[in-house]
Amino acid sequence: MAHLLSTSFSVKISSSNRPCGQPLNQARTALPSSFTIKTSKSSFKRLVSKGDRTRKSCVVLATAAPVSKEVTANPRSGSDESRSDSSKPQRVMVIGGDGYCGWATALHLSNKGYEVAIVDSLVRRLFDHQLGLDSLTPISSIHNRLRCWKAITGKTIELYIGDICDFEFLSETFNSFEPDAVVHFGEQRSAPYSMIDRSRAVFTQKNNVIGTLNVLFAIKEFREECHLVKLGTMGEYGTPNIDIEEGYITITHNGRTDTLPYPKQASSFYHLSKVHDSNNIAFTCKAWGIRATDLNQGVVYGVKTDETSMHEQLCNRLDYDGVFGTALNRFCVQAAVGHPLTVYGKGGQTRGYLDIRDTVQCVELAIANPAKPGEFRVFNQFTEQFSVNELAALVTKAGKKLGLDVQTISVPNPRVEAEEHYYNAKHTKLIELGLKPHLLSDSLLDSLLNFAIEFKDRVDTKQIMPSVSWKKIGVKPQTVPAN
Ligand SMILES: NC(=O)c1ccc[n+]([C@@H]2O[C@H](COP(=O)([O-])OP(=O)(O)OC[C@H]3O[C@@H](n4cnc5c(N)ncnc54)[C@H](O)[C@@H]3O)[C@@H](O)[C@H]2O)c1
Repeated sequence: MAHLLSTSFSVKISSSNRPCGQPLNQARTALPSSFTIKTSKSSFKRLVSKGDRTRKSCVVLATAAPVSKEVTANPRSGSDESRSDSSKPQRVMVIGGDGYCGWATALHLSNKGYEVAIVDSLVRRLFDHQLGLDSLTPISSIHNRLRCWKAITGKTIELYIGDICDFEFLSETFNSFEPDAVVHFGEQRSAPYSMIDRSRAVFTQKNNVIGTLNVLFAIKEFREECHLVKLGTMGEYGTPNIDIEEGYITITHNGRTDTLPYPKQASSFYHLSKVHDSNNIAFTCKAWGIRATDLNQGVVYGVKTDETSMHEQLCNRLDYDGVFGTALNRFCVQAAVGHPLTVYGKGGQTRGYLDIRDTVQCVELAIANPAKPGEFRVFNQFTEQFSVNELAALVTKAGKKLGLDVQTISVPNPRVEAEEHYYNAKHTKLIELGLKPHLLSDSLLDSLLNFAIEFKDRVDTKQIMPSVSWKKIGVKPQTVPAN
């Protein structure tokens, strides 16, 4: 247990921060001025292998000590307001819980009475530093976020900072937290990032594929009943000229019929890492009896959930740049700062989309209705389909109502993809489990645009145009230019 026997140090909380005990519209609560976090003896780990010259200096703090255990008397106590069935999982490990989807999900599950632990290497914050990017919204450190959540709700979320590619670290988190379900968001998730250069392509596939393999081995070794809820992407399927099914398709060939995994046609090294993950998970379900749900998620938009709206220190990140920003979020920020909406090529690219409030709902539904042992279950997690041109038209219309003059330009497509194509993807399984979708509405667009306007002074307009080309991907390490 070397990782758990470690040195500790204090972090002072800036007095300029609004105390979290004083949530929006609530009374003030006294806060400690410092708290203790633990670091591993082998405190710093290289992020990528020695051969990766560009990133030799990158380090990630690795620890298996649950930070928040220091500030709570009984981290395993806690109420379950929403679930009455005691056979359902109680303890949920959220890998990647400091990221966009993971943060919102960790808070949502904690609010619903699950015991939650966040596992995160904080590498996403490092990418921002390396590329000179920033979230539209100011985001607090993970430590302040969790202190704030505790102060407002009285609920503890445990925190394990480390890289899941480090199996020793992951083993210790499993043995320490003993999860009933693992929600795995913890991957490098940008297609453009994976297409910057060779080292980023290699990093993406190592980080994602080995991280997921380690999670599978940890479940097999330490928690064989644990349900894996893995975030995949609709991008794994590509854009076939037939309907996209949920994971499997029944085919009759030369008079014989079988139900087979739906064909995958990924279109970046990132999307390919997700396909490799899916194959590894499917194999271990068969071979070891792992129970798993692969959530092929569409493009997520929005920023607020019930929980992240409770206090400014709980605010989620919102990416608008050409590397990490996703279509609708990017368009809203572009409209807010008077930048023309950047449609890539012809703009007929059609994808599934969902509100971040539905991401958290879908994950909760998957956890509450676990896959059976040995089952590899696939859900297509989105609520509506839009083409890029349709999104641009919706944002233009909503912008007009707010007095914004929204223009659209077509920019050369940096990706290799069909710009006009058939697209019809099934997405009924989560609805059958009880998903109540938040469909894209005028009011949501209004609120997202207003949010973007509120923070528009933080926008670095140099980061808006796409700067990574699928065709010009380099062998040599590249710095993404601040155009
Ligand atoms: N955001 C979307 O629109 C979208 C769409 C489809 C699928 N997804 C999937 O959902 C998941 C979460 O996406 P997101 O937008 O929240 O991404 P994000 O980058 O905001 O969050 C990912 C988090 O995982 C952490 N992480 C990465 N590698 C890790 C490792 N090896 N060990 C520990 N932590 C690690 C990062 O530090 C980060 O906090 C990803 O797997 C992504 O592929 C996202």
